[in-house]
Amino acid sequence: MLDPKAIRSQFPLLLREISGEPIVYLDSAATSQKPDAVLEAMMNVYRTSNANAHRGMHPLAEEATQQYEKARATVQKFLNAKYAEEIVFTKSCTEAINLVAHTVSQQDHIVLSLLEHHSNIIPWMQRDAHIHWTNLSDLEEILRTHTISLVAITGQSNVLGIRPPIEEIIQLSHAAGAKVLVDAAQLVAHHPIHVQKLDCDFLTFSSHKLYGPTGIGVLYAKRECLEEMSPMLGGGGMVYSIAEQSFTPLGIPEKFEAGTPPVADAIGLATAIDWLAHYDWKDIEEYEQHLLRHAEEVLTTIPGLTILNLQPHSAKAPRGDLQPQSGCISFTLAAVHPHDLTEILGRQGICLRAGHHCAQPIHKHLGIAASTRLSVGIYNTIEEINLLPSAIEHAQHVLATT
Ligand SMILES: Cc1ncc(COP(=O)(O)O)c(C=O)c1O
Repeated sequence: MLDPKAIRSQFPLLLREISGEPIVYLDSAATSQKPDAVLEAMMNVYRTSNANAHRGMHPLAEEATQQYEKARATVQKFLNAKYAEEIVFTKSCTEAINLVAHTVSQQDHIVLSLLEHHSNIIPWMQRDAHIHWTNLSDLEEILRTHTISLVAITGQSNVLGIRPPIEEIIQLSHAAGAKVLVDAAQLVAHHPIHVQKLDCDFLTFSSHKLYGPTGIGVLYAKRECLEEMSPMLGGGGMVYSIAEQSFTPLGIPEKFEAGTPPVADAIGLATAIDWLAHYDWKDIEEYEQHLLRHAEEVLTTIPGLTILNLQPHSAKAPRGDLQPQSGCISFTLAAVHPHDLTEILGRQGICLRAGHHCAQPIHKHLGIAASTRLSVGIYNTIEEINLLPSAIEHAQHVLATT
């Protein structure tokens, strides 16, 4: 069993008040808060051992290189990857997807689901790749009738919180000769990931949604995939030799990490992973399900409030059903714009996200322009969820009387 009070006490930001009200942070799908362990580890880098990695021979530079590579090994273990060099540090999940998209061209046919975040849509469009949209139930058909290079799919929707059956999608895609990229931006803080068992070709995530710092993300790719790919960025640290008109890049992963590496951020990410390892995944999932199922119960008592979900007939998984919503739930409130609602809730210290959440296709599919999203981390409590009905009713009242 998780002890949310003990967990909360490790997050200094959660002690903050807004307009005299304690903060109720229900926006972890946008970015999670950071525990003391991560803050201290990063502060410690700058206080005691800051130096550039992979650049110098002096003791601080050696230490920075060692710590940076240790962080890579921590991510490798966390994802259950076979080799450390299959882990490429990027600026973000977005940059990691762009790095893979950089290798596709107009000839490539890419499958995207209606659930995708814009970060897993625009990079493929920028390459003029041919895009096939799947509602998941038609995936087999698309794979049978087209030569698909890659299926790029979210591991967990950042709007509906549902998890497409990625194991099955990977098997189907591989059988049809297509590679698979899993966008694990939302999955990573809520479910263990085993890339070797999944057998995905690529998997991406950002540290900042995993209790780690902003400014660093991860691309996992099978070694043979990375070896075939050309680097997206050029610069220091990625080159083996330069001739008059050409250069030879280093091997993987260095050839993808041009410029000064984000040493403190990598250490922060590794610390977040080590911190999270103190808790059992089973307990994390059970606790977060408990919070979300309770949120559903209390929200559905509010007149005019509708929780978003896919219609089972329009987006049935290839086989089996979509799993219960995890990480977040989104809703609409009759006659209230999500921006107005979250602005008024914000005045009461309650932080929820409003808008299309960078996921316009799924909103369009559901026939709405925007929604309000509630998302949880392991520091949230049932007491916080219980504040919502009266706060939302208060917002409804304010809006009705202005
Ligand atoms: C599903 C999904 N994919 C990708 C991203 C992009 O992550 P980042 O902005 O950290 O690059 C997000 C961010 O919200 C997301 O929710």
